[in-house]
Amino acid sequence: MADKGARPIAKAEGRLGVLTVGLGAVASTFIAGVELARRGVAKPYGSLTQLATIRLGKRTEARTPLIRDFVPLASLDDLVFGAWDPIPDNAYEAALKCGVLDKHEHVEPIGAFLKGIKPMPAVFDRSYVKRLEGTNVKGGKTKREQAEALRQDIREFKAKNNCNRLVIVWCASTEIFIAPGAAHQTLAAFEKAMESNDVTIAPSMLYAWAAMMEGVPFMNGAPNLCCDIPAIEHLARDRKVAIGGKDFKTGQTMLKTVLAPMFKARMLGVAGWYSTNILGNRDGEVLDDPESFKTKEESKLGVLEYILQPQVYPELYGNIFHKVRINYYPPRGDNKEGWDNIDIFGWLGYPMQIKVDFLCRDSILAAPLVLDLALFSDLAQRAGMSGVQEWLSFYFKSPQVAPGLYPEHDLFIQQTKLKNTLRWMMGEEQITHLGVEYYGEA
Ligand SMILES: NC(=O)c1ccc[n+]([C@@H]2O[C@H](COP(=O)([O-])OP(=O)(O)OC[C@H]3O[C@@H](n4cnc5c(N)ncnc54)[C@H](O)[C@@H]3O)[C@@H](O)[C@H]2O)c1
Repeated sequence: MADKGARPIAKAEGRLGVLTVGLGAVASTFIAGVELARRGVAKPYGSLTQLATIRLGKRTEARTPLIRDFVPLASLDDLVFGAWDPIPDNAYEAALKCGVLDKHEHVEPIGAFLKGIKPMPAVFDRSYVKRLEGTNVKGGKTKREQAEALRQDIREFKAKNNCNRLVIVWCASTEIFIAPGAAHQTLAAFEKAMESNDVTIAPSMLYAWAAMMEGVPFMNGAPNLCCDIPAIEHLARDRKVAIGGKDFKTGQTMLKTVLAPMFKARMLGVAGWYSTNILGNRDGEVLDDPESFKTKEESKLGVLEYILQPQVYPELYGNIFHKVRINYYPPRGDNKEGWDNIDIFGWLGYPMQIKVDFLCRDSILAAPLVLDLALFSDLAQRAGMSGVQEWLSFYFKSPQVAPGLYPEHDLFIQQTKLKNTLRWMMGEEQITHLGVEYYGEA
């Protein structure tokens, strides 16, 4: 075993506090799922940290441990949960209201546990999420004061729950679209803007700043700019904290990042891609507001452009009609239906069509991503990896990358990147799939 290059990684000792910003459908489904899994009554399907293996060395070596036996991850038994939300419902009430999990099978049996998770007052401002009203909110005259109050929450949660380490995952609503501006460029400008209540400083950025100041890794599951601004990126590196985002890649975009690489791999052209969704949960309601939808739309639209490279293949991909719609349709609740109609063309330009109808469950797809991001960002932090964690782009629709880099969107390139990063951390050889050695060429 080639362990010469292994990075020093601090042990996953003691309790890991997982704080979610937002205690809605995704966060309550995640928390309930972890509790059910650790009681052994349900399985954490969808989670790489719990179920996936990793191949090490040559194919002939037959070494494929579980990822969780290969890298030192926190155990589910050591996780403690906390949250912020402007809606005062505890995790039990939130789980019942969003209606993702079966009340009798999966909520009532852990009712007492879920009732114990009450959201801390949020930093919330309706101008950033128009369709929500919240009563459980912090005061504070300036954004700086609000952010300092979040730091206080983080410290108190850690002490009260006897945690060794914390991570924060943004599972809160999608904020309105904000373009990167002057206040986001440097830490000095950002802090000044917090003091003057600059409108371009959204609540999500205050959580990210507070996390950095407290040395807590921060992962962003929504498409808001949040920690994807130079001020927070620099702060993350200065304070040696892991960050990542944006926007959990769960349903339609996950499919898109599997299908589009296939078309490009086979040099099949794409004339149009029409994606539409019906969704009836609170997320759907928030996204019904055009300003929040714009944030989501940007995140969903970028994917094809990067994968298909129309500038390199103008004849195949230079003229795609790409449309994404999300329609709020209450009867379906969290059970989203996503349709894709893809018009492709092949040999001599003959047209063909593909139709996809994905009847998915939004929060069931997102919950394991929250778990993996919590455990992997804690691992990165213990391994001394700070700043943007691009190896976690596997989990995001709109991956945050270093300035000047384009993001990798192809799901399987992202998976290779993730697994190779784990091999690199542990001093194992990278897997290149060259394989000439099996044929006596090496
Ligand atoms: N498959 C998925 O479910 C999926 C995929 C990608 C991204 N997301 C994103 O994840 C987020 C959560 O989705 P959800 O279905 O749980 O939505 P939800 O509406 O059920 O929950 C979001 C919660 O965030 C709270 N909130 C809003 N602003 C807040 C603030 N400033 N501070 C603290 N809490 C705040 C809301 O009150 C709400 O309870 C959304 O932004 C959504 O777009 C979800």
